[in-house]
Amino acid sequence: MKKRINTIINMIPPGAKKIVDVACDHGLIGIQAYNLDHIKAVICSDINDNALAAAKGNVKRENLDIECRISDGLKEIDKKEFDVAIIAGLGSKAITQIVKDSLPKLTNKKIIISTNDNLYKLRKFMNKNGFVVEQEKLVKENNVIYTVILYIPADFIEEELREEQLYFGPKLLSEKHDLLFEVIDNEIEKVDGILKILPPKYFIKQLRLRSRKAYLKRLKRKLS
Ligand SMILES: C[S@@+](CC[C@H](N)C(=O)[O-])C[C@H]1O[C@@H](n2cnc3c(N)ncnc32)[C@H](O)[C@@H]1O
Repeated sequence: MKKRINTIINMIPPGAKKIVDVACDHGLIGIQAYNLDHIKAVICSDINDNALAAAKGNVKRENLDIECRISDGLKEIDKKEFDVAIIAGLGSKAITQIVKDSLPKLTNKKIIISTNDNLYKLRKFMNKNGFVVEQEKLVKENNVIYTVILYIPADFIEEELREEQLYFGPKLLSEKHDLLFEVIDNEIEKVDGILKILPPKYFIKQLRLRSRKAYLKRLKRKLS
């Protein structure tokens, strides 16, 4: 768990003062963020009573001045209470929903997101809504690869990301992140797995999957 959380903490911009740890569960991210010198206030929030009780217990044990608050996403958090929102440990669909539900609150805010599933739609949504990828990392923990992204508000009209960037991340691609090859290999393996069990009547789907596999192999060659 340490590697992923450390990557998230390292992405908190040095100028940040107020953090909200959305979907905090045990509050480990919020607690670690609180220990940064430049952080003046942290709110740990979660939709679930039991999760929040666990966070409260940890905060109390460490004797920290962190508020723990029940909230569905950012619904109970005021715009003035944070300059960086961290939304980690959820699927990208749930993260997108949280951002969508509180979009006006997030104007001019920085957002750190982390998930281990497909980010295509989340990246597309963020791109369309004026957020720019400032940092993007992959981290492997317990054999799972997590993506961690720091989004900042765009101060210009953001270029539309290309398909390749939506799938694999603009910075991960331009920086040729070490784990990117493994991500692409995993994707190829997934496609092979589906092809193996797909009945012959799904001919069109088979064609699409084969061309996806060829594309992924080309991408790997291009990056190496
Ligand atoms: C796997 S934990 C993530 C903990 C921590 N953020 C991390 O990355 O290690 C997922 C947490 O998300 C919370 N959650 C799910 N949907 C939520 C929502 N809409 N708003 C707030 N919390 C939510 C769950 O209650 C659970 O505690």
